[in-house]
Amino acid sequence: MRSEKLFTEAKNLMPGGVSSPVRAIKPYPFYTRSAAGSRLMTEDGECLIDCCLGYGPLILGHAHPTVREAICACTEDGWLYGTPAEKELTLARMLIADHPSVDMVRFVSSGSEATMAAIRLARGFTGREDFIKIEGGFHGAHDGVLIKAGSGATTMGVPDSAGVIPDVVRHTLQVPYNDLEALSGILENNDNVAAFILEPVLGNVGPILPDDGYLAEVRKITEEHDVLLIFDEVITGYRLGIGGAQVKYGVTPDLTTFGKIIGGGLPIGCFSGRRDIMQLTAPAGPVYQAGTFSGNPLSLSAGIACLKYLHDNRGLYSKLEKNAQIIGESIPWARKGGFVNLGSMFKLFFRNAPPRNYLEAKESDTQAFSLFWNKMMKKGIFLPPSQFETNFLSVAHTDDDVATIAGAYSSCL
Ligand SMILES: Cc1ncc(COP(=O)(O)O)c(C=O)c1O
Repeated sequence: MRSEKLFTEAKNLMPGGVSSPVRAIKPYPFYTRSAAGSRLMTEDGECLIDCCLGYGPLILGHAHPTVREAICACTEDGWLYGTPAEKELTLARMLIADHPSVDMVRFVSSGSEATMAAIRLARGFTGREDFIKIEGGFHGAHDGVLIKAGSGATTMGVPDSAGVIPDVVRHTLQVPYNDLEALSGILENNDNVAAFILEPVLGNVGPILPDDGYLAEVRKITEEHDVLLIFDEVITGYRLGIGGAQVKYGVTPDLTTFGKIIGGGLPIGCFSGRRDIMQLTAPAGPVYQAGTFSGNPLSLSAGIACLKYLHDNRGLYSKLEKNAQIIGESIPWARKGGFVNLGSMFKLFFRNAPPRNYLEAKESDTQAFSLFWNKMMKKGIFLPPSQFETNFLSVAHTDDDVATIAGAYSSCL
C-alpha cells in the first residue's frame, strides 16, 4: 500500500507523521491524492465517500465548481497583498447581514486564532481575568483552552497538554454542557469572569444538542452577571443554516467566532460581535491582534463564493437534513437510541441515548465504534475516525451516495 509507505517515511519527517493529531489513524492513515464532489481518491487507488469533509468546511463538497472558479479568478490577481482589499468588505457585509449579533468583524486565519482573540477581547473589555468554557468543549489549540475535562468547575483548571503552564489555565473554568446550575453556581461566587464561551451545539463531542431553552437561559444568566457570551460557531456557522445556531435558536451572543465554511474550504477564522466591544481591537483600541495572512484574498474569494451559493440555494439545508435522517432511519433499532442529527450534522453514539454532555458522551463504547468505523472503511465510506467527531454531509452527496451510506450503516451495525 502506497499510504503505508508514505506514512512510514512521514513519521521520520513530522511528529507522529501528520500535520494534525486526529489524522494519525491507526495503523496508518490513507493518503489522499485528490478529491472531487463527495469523494476522496486515495494513493492506494480507492475512491471513498467522504463524510468528514475536512472536519466541516466543505458543505459544498470537494472542488465545487463555483468555489474553484472564484479561487482561480483570484489567482489571476495575486494572492497576498499585505494591504486592505475590497473583498474584506464584501465578506464582512455578508456576515453582518446574516447575524443580528454581528456589527463588526475581524478576519484571521483559523478558528483557533479567532477564539484566542475573542477571549482576549472579552478580557480587555471587561477588565476581568477568568473565563468559562464547556467541559470537553474544543475551541482550538491555544494554551488557555487546553484544559483537562473533569478538572472541576470551581477549582483551578489542569493543563491538558505538556507545555501549558498551570498559571495560564487557572483562569479557565469549566461547566458541563446543558447544566445551568453549574453556570449560575460559578457566577454567583466569582466576579472575575469575563466571558462564557461555548459551541451552541457541541460539534466537537458529537453533535450534542442543547436542551430546550438552554441557550436562552445561558443568555439570561450571563446578562444578569454582566459576563460576555461568546458563541463559537466555527462549526455551526452556515452549517445549521444561514445565521448559524444563533438564528436557529434565536439567541444573541455578544461575540461570535467563525471559521471553516466561511472560507469555502480555505484557511480562515473570524471574530465578530457588538460594535462597542469590537472597537477595542487594535488599531481602533488597545486589545492587540494581528496576522500576515489575515483577510487574504484567496480565502475571502472562496468564502464569498461559498456563502453566495448557500444564499442562492437555501433549500439545500432541508435536503441535507433529510439525507441525514435517511441515514438515521437505516440504523437497526438496537443501536438507534444513540443516533443524533441536526441538519447535516449527525453521529451514532455507541450508547443507549444521545449524550447531554461530555461525560455522558465518554461513556460510549469506543471499541464498538472503532470496529464499526473499520467496517465502514471497507465499504468505501470515510467517517471521521473518532466517536467524538461529528459526521457531515454536503450538497455533493447524491441520493445514491446517501443510499450507499445508509445501506452501509445498516449492514455494518
Ligand atoms: C468549535 C471549534 N472552534 C475552534 C476550532 C479551531 O479551528 P481551527 O482548526 O481552524 O484552528 C475548531 C476546529 O475544529 C472548532 O471545531
